[in-house]
Parts: sequence; structure tokens; C-alpha cells
Amino acid sequence: MNPGDYQSHNDGEETRRQLAYIDRLTGYVSTLRDELGRNPRACVVTFGCQMNARDSEKLLGILITAGYDETDEESDADLILYNTCSVRDNANQRVYGRLGVLKGYKKSNPHLKVVLCGCMMQEEACVNKIRTSYSFVDLIFGTHNIFKFAELMCEMFENSGHPGTQVWNETDQIVEELPVRRKYSYKSGVNIMFGCNNFCTYCIVPYVRGRERSRSPKDIIRECEKLAADGVKEIMLLGQNVNSYGNDFEEGNPDKISFAKLIDEVTKVEGIERVRFMTPHPKDFSDELIDVIANNKKIARHIHLPLQSGNTEILRRMNRKYTKDDFLNLVNKIRTKLPDVAITTDIIVGFPGETKEDVDDTIDVVRKSAFDNAFTFIYSKRTGTPAASFEDQVPEDVVKENFDRLLKVVQDTAKEQSLKYKGQVQEVLVENVNDHDDSLMTGRMSNNTLVHFPGGEDLIGKMVKVKITECHGFYFFGEIAE
Ligand code: 5AD
Ligand code: SF4
Repeated sequence: MNPGDYQSHNDGEETRRQLAYIDRLTGYVSTLRDELGRNPRACVVTFGCQMNARDSEKLLGILITAGYDETDEESDADLILYNTCSVRDNANQRVYGRLGVLKGYKKSNPHLKVVLCGCMMQEEACVNKIRTSYSFVDLIFGTHNIFKFAELMCEMFENSGHPGTQVWNETDQIVEELPVRRKYSYKSGVNIMFGCNNFCTYCIVPYVRGRERSRSPKDIIRECEKLAADGVKEIMLLGQNVNSYGNDFEEGNPDKISFAKLIDEVTKVEGIERVRFMTPHPKDFSDELIDVIANNKKIARHIHLPLQSGNTEILRRMNRKYTKDDFLNLVNKIRTKLPDVAITTDIIVGFPGETKEDVDDTIDVVRKSAFDNAFTFIYSKRTGTPAASFEDQVPEDVVKENFDRLLKVVQDTAKEQSLKYKGQVQEVLVENVNDHDDSLMTGRMSNNTLVHFPGGEDLIGKMVKVKITECHGFYFFGEIAE
């Protein structure tokens, strides 16, 4: 079924419809409970980005409302859901690898249902492969109809033994107010828009997430207010390209406000102490946004600004719509107006046609921008994207050599940047007990780096002042300052 075949509902109607399906699903889960003699357990596994993490919280919210208990152990579960990513091929391969194991679990637990959703499922070739090679999968759906999860689950129980697949090509629906089970009590992502219109030539996202659709500012603020009332202190505004927020609203629509205005409004929500955002595109990072960040201390001192390449010709062929100099000028402007902001980035090595000299340009930008951290990726050919058919794919050994050269500079620059925090007192949102030493707590600074310091569990979810005593590149040690 496609949206065209589907009678369009306004948000409120569709929400009511889905809530009725959650009720119906509760009935199926209750029958399952009787058969098992205990509560059924669901394991939701997320691959990929913050958008997927947020989607998983929505999917888990529906499962828990319907009566499932959450488990982290796939071998213990009666329902395993993989929320997949397809931005690079290794994510796809990991899913196939893990599916092989699930076949065994299905043999030992005949009640086990396996559900797949997310970006990979928007690719026809992936769905076909799963249908032929992993025929035990019970339900497949994509990114556009996740709000129909309860309905799809009911159909799965009703058609037991007949695997269901429902992948839409597009949707213009944004369905609000369905249950959510947050992973963290004190912080949350909030979607502000879905999809991407940029069509960078290496990227699969516009094909699997569709065109840009913004949520109304009212709905976003209402969600933030509810989160704050529930104890959330930190919000991350999520979108594939947050600077395009509201571009899809018509002129004259009162909802049409800039991203800068929106983030400013979100910081005014009572109880919200810190607001982050992910991800802006360098081509439309506005002066207005820089000024709003400068004047608003609740906005985190961190900007993730994906460079992808430092070479102007490669950037042109990536369809990034900025040059090496544009990027350097932007970083300069940010560093001048926001001296306390950490800048991190994403870089792709091995884009078709990339030479050693092109990578020298990228290294030059890394040095001049003095990134606080950078995520470096080896180019992965994604079927259906324009770059996949570019002729001059780069040999693996050349990519590896360039990648290692770049990584060395990234690490040196990041280390150098981190040294400036030594001795500073920073606001830290305490996240959890340290993984390796339970006398320490781990928290996140405004610039997004982790800091470990002596303290008790009672601090979790609180904002505390920590003096930085040791710098270790990507993390710090410190002590409570008051
Ligand atoms: N190959 C490698 N990296 C990619 N990214 C997106 N598409 C690809 C690809 N085909 C990287 C970009 C993006 C990050 C989320 O993933 O750097 O910013
Ligand atoms: Fe992909 Fe480019 Fe859109 Fe980012 S801006 S999601 S890299 S197409």
C-alpha cells in the first residue's frame, strides 16, 4: 500500500486510530502472556543515527504500552525489532550477520517474532534479499509509516504465518502524541523535521527518508514542555538539515519561523537547561543562528558542522554547494563570534576521483579549523546514488593510506584543542556511573565531551559544576567545584 491508496487523515484522527490499534495490540499481547505464563519481552536494537534512536523510543513506547517488557537480551526476547541504517554498507552487513543468528532463536522460541524497519527497508533490493534469504522475518516496514507500528503489529498477529511487508515511498503525514519510552530520563531528542532535500551525491538519506517535512513550532514546543515536566533537562533538536527548518511552510504561514528563532523559543521552556541541535549544513548556517547562539547560554557550546571534503572540486562533485574557502570563512566567523564553542565534523575519504592532493586540502581545512573532534568515514558506494556510477572509484589501498594520514591530523588537532579546557570549571549534566570505576560518575559538558569525576549516583540527571583536572583527548577527568 502507498500513501496514495491510503485515505488521508489529519493528525488528530490518525493519532486516535493508532491509539485504538494499540488497544487491540494489548489484546494480542495478553493472549501471548497467557500462553507464555509471563510477560512477553521485546528487544529493540538501533543501528545508525540519533533520528533512528528517537524512532526506536517511539516504537518501544508502543510495545510497552501494549504490555511488553523491555529486554536488552535478544536470546531472551519474544519480539526482536531491528531499526536499521543504510548510510554505509557495513551497517547493512551487520544486520544480515545478526539475522543469521536470529534464525536459531526462532527455532528455540516458536513465539518469537522478528520485525525489521528503518532506512534499509526503504531499499527494494534489501527487502527482496530478506524475503528470499531470511524468510522467517515476520514484519517489514520502512521509515515513512512507523506511526502505524501498532496497526502493522496487529496485522502481523492476525495473519500469523504470513510475513507482512509495508514500505511506503513517501508521506506527508506527521502523527503526533503517540507513546514514547525514552532511553534517558534527563535528556531527549526532539524531531523538528524529517527528510532531506539536499541530494549530496554520495548519500542515500534523501532516498530513504524522503523530502523535508517540518513539524509545527507549536507541536515542537508542546513536546518540549511535556518533556520538561517529566524531568528532562537537555533537549537535542533533530533533523537531517536543521537550517532548512520551516522552508516547506508557505510564505504567510505563521508557523514559518527560522531555525534560529525556533531554538531560541525552545530554550525558553521552563525546566530546560540545555539545548543541542544536529545536524546543520554549512551551506546555510546563518548569521542569525550564530548571533542567537552567542546571546543564549542555554544553547550548547557545540556545533557539529559536516565538512565531508576540503577540496572545492570534490565538494562540487559531492553537490555540497560550498567551497573550501566558504567553509573556512564560516569556521572563522564561528570561532570569532563564539570563542567557547567546540566544532566537530564528518569527513569522507575515498569519494570517487579523490587524489592524494585533494586529501591534502582536507587535512589543511582540519588544521585551519582546529576541529575539536572529527568522525572520519571511508566512502561507501550506495546503489541508487549518483556517485555510485561515477567512474573513477578509488582503489582500497590508496583510500587506506589517505584515511590514516587524515586520522593522525584529526587526533593531533583534537588533542591540542582539548588542552584548553584544563583548569576550567564546566557545567556538566551527569549521565551515569562510570563504566570502569563505580566511584566515578560520567557526565557531558556543554561542548559534548565526557568528563569523569568522583561522585554519587544521586547526581544522575543533575547539572553540576566540575573543574577539569586532566585532559585525555576525547574525554576528561575532573572534580566537583562546589
Ligand atoms: N559513504 C561514507 N560516508 C557517508 N556518509 C553519508 N553517506 C556516506 C557514504 N556513502 C557520512 C557523512 C555524513 C555521515 C552521517 O555519514 O559524512 O555526514
Ligand atoms: Fe545526506 Fe547531504 Fe542530506 Fe546530509 S545533507 S542527509 S549528507 S543528502
